[in-house]
Amino acid sequence: MNSFESVGWSIWITVASLGGVVFCLYVLFSQLKGQPKKGETISETGHTWDGISEYDTPLPRWWVSMFLILTIIALLYLALYPGLGSFNGLLNTNQAKEVLQAQEEIEERVQPVYQKYASMPITEIAQDDEARAIGQRLFLNNCAQCHGSDAQGSPSFPNLADDSWLWGGEPDQVLHTITEGRRGIMPAHNAMMNPLQAADLAQYVRSLSNLAHDQTRVVPGKKLYDQDCVACHAADGTGNQMLGAPNLTDDSWLYGSSEDSIVYGILNGRDNQMPAQKAVLSPEQIRLLAGWVWGLSNTEQQ
Ligand code: HEC
Ligand code: HEC
Repeated sequence: MNSFESVGWSIWITVASLGGVVFCLYVLFSQLKGQPKKGETISETGHTWDGISEYDTPLPRWWVSMFLILTIIALLYLALYPGLGSFNGLLNTNQAKEVLQAQEEIEERVQPVYQKYASMPITEIAQDDEARAIGQRLFLNNCAQCHGSDAQGSPSFPNLADDSWLWGGEPDQVLHTITEGRRGIMPAHNAMMNPLQAADLAQYVRSLSNLAHDQTRVVPGKKLYDQDCVACHAADGTGNQMLGAPNLTDDSWLYGSSEDSIVYGILNGRDNQMPAQKAVLSPEQIRLLAGWVWGLSNTEQQ
């Protein structure tokens, strides 16, 4: 394996590395001159600072020999180890290959652990201590940035620890959500109603979950609801898990229950996406995650 994309780069690095060494040697030898003989007067360079003048003495011998030794070490290193473009050195070290090998070893070691869960039902995974520990680690690494480390979500990121589900809480539905991802789209209604009508609607929506509401506005609100909203949120407001349309009668809110937030959503719509994990995680890892997530709201099973 070779991390250089073209021979040109490899040659360029080789020339630059060897050229650097040759240039250093050139500078060294251009400054060398013989040691002064006994009794010879040492000339001065002519540089003076505040009356202090500089002798034109040769480089100390110990310094020159150290420099030469270091040069030899550098050349030896370049011969033995990678450093000259794509040449792996006489010891044939290849760090990219070593990393790949190490990864394969880990994969081999981990595979039997995951294999155990490939066919275990999600409901059993949710009760298996080892599986839950792995599931939680996977969650913290791959999901917590959106759903929170306690899986309780935040505005626009659903709470996964309660029993209110946008797309369904059956083990297979959770597995499907994680594998394929989901996209919840609530269309904008600003072309068909004004903010006052949306506010009436918001009062009706709040009444569905017994939140404080203005009864006089609930009546026109319900009329609009029956006309524009039932197709997705159902006549009784309990939503539709095929569309990811939330249940509006419970006390679980994706965006908050305030009138402002509900009006904003009705007028401007919402477009929310759960990214598919099948390209990122293995099927076994996804099963472990589904088991852990499912277990959060099905604690009586454990
Ligand atoms: C980039 C942010 C992001 C990441 C990362 C993410 N999710 Fe999500 N997830 C979302 C959003 C947003 C939704 C809501 C989609 C919608 O509104 O329909 C969601 C929805 C879900 C749902 C459906 C909830 C329901 O009520 O039906 C599950 C289950 C879920 N995520 C699990 C996971 C797991 C497990 C991971 C880690 C592998 C993960 N998510 C990673 C953003 C994310
Ligand atoms: C085409 C289907 C569709 C229609 C029609 C629709 N909605 Fe929605 N609605 C959704 C979806 C899907 C979501 C979830 C969006 C998300 O995942 O971010 C949603 C979200 C919401 C929310 C946010 C709930 C929360 O938990 O924060 C409210 C409130 C809402 N809709 C009210 C309405 C009202 C009122 C109407 C009628 C004017 C309406 N919807 C019409 C599909 C629809």
